Amino acid sequence: MSDALFDLEGRVAIVTGGMGQLGQTYLDGLAERGARVVSFDVEDGPVPDGAKALRVDVTDRSSIQHALDEVVGEWGVPHVLVNNAALDSPPDAPAEEVGPFENYPEASFDAVMDVNVKGVVFTLQKLLPLLAPGASVAVAFAFAVDRGGTFWFTYLAES
Ligand SMILES: NC(=O)c1ccc[n+]([C@@H]2O[C@H](COP(=O)([O-])OP(=O)(O)OC[C@H]3O[C@@H](n4cnc5c(N)ncnc54)[C@H](O)[C@@H]3O)[C@@H](O)[C@H]2O)c1
Repeated sequence: MSDALFDLEGRVAIVTGGMGQLGQTYLDGLAERGARVVSFDVEDGPVPDGAKALRVDVTDRSSIQHALDEVVGEWGVPHVLVNNAALDSPPDAPAEEVGPFENYPEASFDAVMDVNVKGVVFTLQKLLPLLAPGASVAVAFAFAVDRGGTFWFTYLAES
C-alpha cells in the first residue's frame, strides 16, 4: 500500500495476541504499510507474507524475553508494540462466567487479570528499554457499559 502518511517501511512491529480476531487485523494492517510484523501469541495461525508468528505467553517474562531476543537479533529494535493479547468471557463461555456477577469464578477472574493486565505490564517491562526512539505503544482494550451480565464485568475490570 502506498500511503506516505502511514508508511512503516523498515519498521518492526510486535502485536501480542496476533492470532486473535483483532490481532489478525493489526498484523495485516501493519504489514500492508510496510512494517515487519511479528505476533506474540500462545496459539499458532496465519500471518502475512514475511511476518513471523512466535509462541509467546505474555504472562511469562522469560517467554517474552526469549521471543524479543529472536526478533531483535534478526530484525533489530522494535518501533511499534500493540498490546492486544487478552482473555474475556465470550457469550458461549461456561455458564458461571456469564451468569450473575456474584457467581463469577475466582479462577476466571485471575486468568483474565493475568493476561489482560499483568501481560501488558510484563511485555512493557521487557520492551520499553529496547524500543527505538519515537516508538509507539498501543493497548487494545475495551470499555463497558452496564448490560447486566458478567461478560461486561471483566471488560470493565481490565479497562
Ligand atoms: N473483537 C472485538 O470486537 C473487540 C472490540 C473491542 C475491544 N476488544 C478488545 O481487544 C482485545 C482483543 O480482542 P479479540 O476479539 O481480538 O480477542 P481474541 O480472543 O480473538 O484474541 C485474543 C488473542 O490473545 C491470545 N492470548 C490469550 N492469552 C495469551 C497469552 N497468555 N499470551 C499471548 N497471547 C495470548 C489468544 O490466543 C488470542 O489469539 C481484547 O482486550 C478485547 O476486549 C475487542
